Amino acid sequence: MNSPLPSGSLEGAHDGSMAEPLCLANARLVLRDCVLTGRITLAEGRIAEIAEGDQVPPGAVDCGGDVVMPGLVELHTDNLERHIEPRPSVDWPHLPAILAHDGELASTGITTVFDAMRVGSIHDGKGRYMPYARALASELMMLREGGHLKISHFLHLRAETCSETLLEEMAAFGPEDRVGIVSLMDHTPGQRQFRDLAALKTYVAKKRGMSDADFVEHVANLKELRRLHGTRHEAGAVAEARRLGAVLASHDDTTADQVATSKAHGVGFAEFPTTLEAAQACQAQGIKVMMGAPNLIRGGSHSGNVAANDLAQAGLLDIVSSDYVPSALLLSAFRLFDLWGDLPRAVACVTESPARAAGLTDRGRLEAGWRGDVLRVGLIGTTPVLRGVWSRGARVA
Ligand SMILES: [Fe+2]
Repeated sequence: MNSPLPSGSLEGAHDGSMAEPLCLANARLVLRDCVLTGRITLAEGRIAEIAEGDQVPPGAVDCGGDVVMPGLVELHTDNLERHIEPRPSVDWPHLPAILAHDGELASTGITTVFDAMRVGSIHDGKGRYMPYARALASELMMLREGGHLKISHFLHLRAETCSETLLEEMAAFGPEDRVGIVSLMDHTPGQRQFRDLAALKTYVAKKRGMSDADFVEHVANLKELRRLHGTRHEAGAVAEARRLGAVLASHDDTTADQVATSKAHGVGFAEFPTTLEAAQACQAQGIKVMMGAPNLIRGGSHSGNVAANDLAQAGLLDIVSSDYVPSALLLSAFRLFDLWGDLPRAVACVTESPARAAGLTDRGRLEAGWRGDVLRVGLIGTTPVLRGVWSRGARVA
């Protein structure tokens, strides 16, 4: 699998600041295969030690039996886009938007994020998308280099094949940009996520204030773009992911044929497969299945596609993403715990599994030597309450 980081560069990763040693004691530690009552010590940005028992050494924090688990790893969030455009056509200044996004994610227990940015614009017609990813990525990297961000950020380029400018926009990125994920997206109406045109109309026409005639024109325009550029864009985006050292993801795969094509492209994980058939094909092909936390919490997809719960029950769910509700990620782990009765398995779906799928091997698990990204979580019944968030050993929420 490709790694999003040149070898050795993690040592110099500038993610937040490191803090004084900290010991969280008398906690229920969610380890890889079991839940253990014990304590965990963070030092120099990493997990220094894990010990069993309910003792609280002098200077340690008594967690009173709270759950302590790894920080969440989020592979696909639209949250940064929401901050730079809080309402349709409202451009918010980028630096405060990035800082607010960073702080919001920290407050929900996310300690590593792959910020999704669309590449591939549409300059004409009613459904226009103007390019923004290159400028926003530079601003994000500048804040990161300055040590202003609380959590660890990577980029996720959402390569929209049904667009005008995909490859020109991708060419403006280089390996230094921490592009960890490239997802291959095709939102041409009448297939995949938008097989149901009525669902697309609800989604896009309301969001963009289109009339019925506008919507018909918009659909025709998108289909024409797919015809003109789709094949070239898809092959080009696969090549660009390789050049950038990014993991490839598929998006909204619906049929076994589409999954076979994804496999041939070298896809590592599948975002939001829309049918049981596609999820089964992914598992058979060794492609990890990622579903949206809101789908899991709401008990179904807002686009009318397969329910994440059904996939979880069928043993076809590997990774959960917060998608468009950051706070849904932690909640989804406890929903999966309810469903499976296995807390380490549920927690892995939002920690180690996404980290591994994105090529990160230093985080996502409570183990000595791993990154000091840790959450303290209380419970009201089955609802998690975050009581502390540490990123690289420093408290961030
Ligand atoms: Fe989609």
